[in-house]
Amino acid sequence: MGYPEGTGPEFHVVYADETAGNLRTLLGPHTAYDLWHVDQTFTPNVPSTTFFWVLEMPESGGGDTAFTSLTAAYEALSPTFQRLLAPLSLFHTSASVGEIARVGQERALKEAVKTTHPLVIRHPVSGRPSLFVNPTIARRVEGLLPEESEALLRFLHEHIRSLDFGCRVRWEKGSVVVWDQRSAAHSAVPDFRDGERRHMVRLLPYGTIPEPAFPEIYEQPGAL
Ligand SMILES: [Fe+2]
Repeated sequence: MGYPEGTGPEFHVVYADETAGNLRTLLGPHTAYDLWHVDQTFTPNVPSTTFFWVLEMPESGGGDTAFTSLTAAYEALSPTFQRLLAPLSLFHTSASVGEIARVGQERALKEAVKTTHPLVIRHPVSGRPSLFVNPTIARRVEGLLPEESEALLRFLHEHIRSLDFGCRVRWEKGSVVVWDQRSAAHSAVPDFRDGERRHMVRLLPYGTIPEPAFPEIYEQPGAL
């Protein structure tokens, strides 16, 4: 991790090699890996249009980035289920799955930045509702009991992974991908060989505070 000389932390370097490790190193042994998320939603204002580009790709190939549309995921739900979600909000914390794996649970919780956002937000430009789930950062529905929250989020996290809503970017020299964090989630695909170098840079401007898609039935957190 680091920043190019002469720039500030606005440029986030995403880097893996033989010493830095990658997602597999971070999450430990599994049969398969994905880490669907929206970047850094634990602050009141959330990231908006994001630029991500490649400096160096693994020599043996792989290291794609997968995207899924949270707008399309919302639209695929039945009107009855959509109405069920509209009043709900999610608790977002920087003590994410990846951060706990990186620094340990105690430190991650102590240093956590946290906030609450509506589960269904209205995109400030398109006006379209978006299913604002974030499997690594937002793992609790406000006002529900733990089992209820877990069951609902398990379904929604599976739902957004559908190939119906997704695409996969195969990075090539000079590729720059631009997406909106408020309407798409993404995941690294850590299928390249251990020790190979993958070097990316991300520019992450922050947008507005997310607004509920249906304010007339949205329940402010704590009011449930
Ligand atoms: Fe990310």
